[in-house]
Amino acid sequence: MPPRRLSSHDLALLATHHPALSARLAARTVGSPMTVVHDGVGVAAFEGEVLALSLLAADRLVLSRSPKYHRPRGATCLRGHCEGCLVRYDGEPNVMACLSTVRRGAEAHSQNAFPTAGLDLMRVTDWFFPKHLDHHHLMVDFGAAVNRTMQRLTRKLAGLGTLPEEPRTPVEAAEHTVDALVVGAGQSGIGAANALAAAGLRVLVCDEAPAPGGAALDALDTPLDTLARLDPRVGCLTGTAAVATYDDTTLLVDGVRLYSVRARARVFANGGIASVGTFVNNDAPGVYTRDAFARALRQGVLASDRALFVGPGAAALGAIAKTLPHRGHKIEAEGTVVEAVGSGRVKGAVLTVGGARRQVTNIEALVVDTPAHAAYELAGQAGAEIVWSPAMRCFTPQRTPDGATRVPGVFVTGSLCLGEATVAARHADGARVGAHAAEWLNERATP
Ligand code: FES
Repeated sequence: MPPRRLSSHDLALLATHHPALSARLAARTVGSPMTVVHDGVGVAAFEGEVLALSLLAADRLVLSRSPKYHRPRGATCLRGHCEGCLVRYDGEPNVMACLSTVRRGAEAHSQNAFPTAGLDLMRVTDWFFPKHLDHHHLMVDFGAAVNRTMQRLTRKLAGLGTLPEEPRTPVEAAEHTVDALVVGAGQSGIGAANALAAAGLRVLVCDEAPAPGGAALDALDTPLDTLARLDPRVGCLTGTAAVATYDDTTLLVDGVRLYSVRARARVFANGGIASVGTFVNNDAPGVYTRDAFARALRQGVLASDRALFVGPGAAALGAIAKTLPHRGHKIEAEGTVVEAVGSGRVKGAVLTVGGARRQVTNIEALVVDTPAHAAYELAGQAGAEIVWSPAMRCFTPQRTPDGATRVPGVFVTGSLCLGEATVAARHADGARVGAHAAEWLNERATP
């Protein structure tokens, strides 16, 4: 059975075995049925649904091709971190299907593929050059004319998408001034923003996800009603990414609009970057982060009923998935993935378990539990010192216990600094850092 939407029977099973998850499923908002067009084919969807999920539910797994070798790529993180889901959407190139919602009349197309991402004849590049393609020196030994022709051809075949048909009208940035900007509306960002609002300050929070809540929304064993919600006094821009920050200004973009936000205090709560880790063929469609599989499930899409779950967190998710009718989920709580097997999509995996090598076959998805890396770049742009954390095994901003960095007015909080921490710990950290930022701001308030 390919990926599918949960049936009423599935929902009843989940409600019996996992009340926390069934409450999430009940809370998801599903709009009226509609059709979205992908590569000329109509795909059943629901209004407002995440485009990548509509395509996944229709088993349209291969969404794009890699720029050089034309390797098939699919949604891996469902969080805007892997670029496996880039499509041309409504004439706009390089749109992340996992951060876009379906719209009536809009069409999605594969990019960088001929004729489609599902069947791309340019895939032969990968087979002709199994080890390495040095396009800079390709055909240099055959004379300048041949080399120039080759360079031109290479440029045409590679790259990411083509420009829109019509030039866009330049957009003026809308200017906003607030006391504090919080980047990231996960549990720590919500904690910080609410603390700042409670101190009577004007606060704006932004997040690239379609709704506030962050990764905690995918923690399927955490009851939904225990998650923190944004104080209504906090201004919130969802679907909006912070792309640069300098002096007291941060640039936000939502795909159409540009915002220039001046804030006396900036709180970075933008968490981590999800990845599946390093192993052979880790870009094969059908490889998912644990959170991506969970995210699809809580939005009513089962990515596979024959998945291999590797790692402790993935094992817990596998136990939930096994509640539903399946053809053979497998769980390997202690293993490490060495290789994903399969060219167009995952068919198997090679693992090491307790030092021994093991081959797993007959799967359609590989769900990997790898800790996220701190998304420290914006805090670094703001001037925070970035240091190596042996505990988190990644770089992270240096801070005091109250979240202050070496730059006055720049604070950091949440899994950006804590790594894998509980939902409650992340929220408590945000609340503490927000309270400290509020104190700092109020001490410097203009009389
Ligand atoms: S960026 Fe969309 S699935 Fe990873």
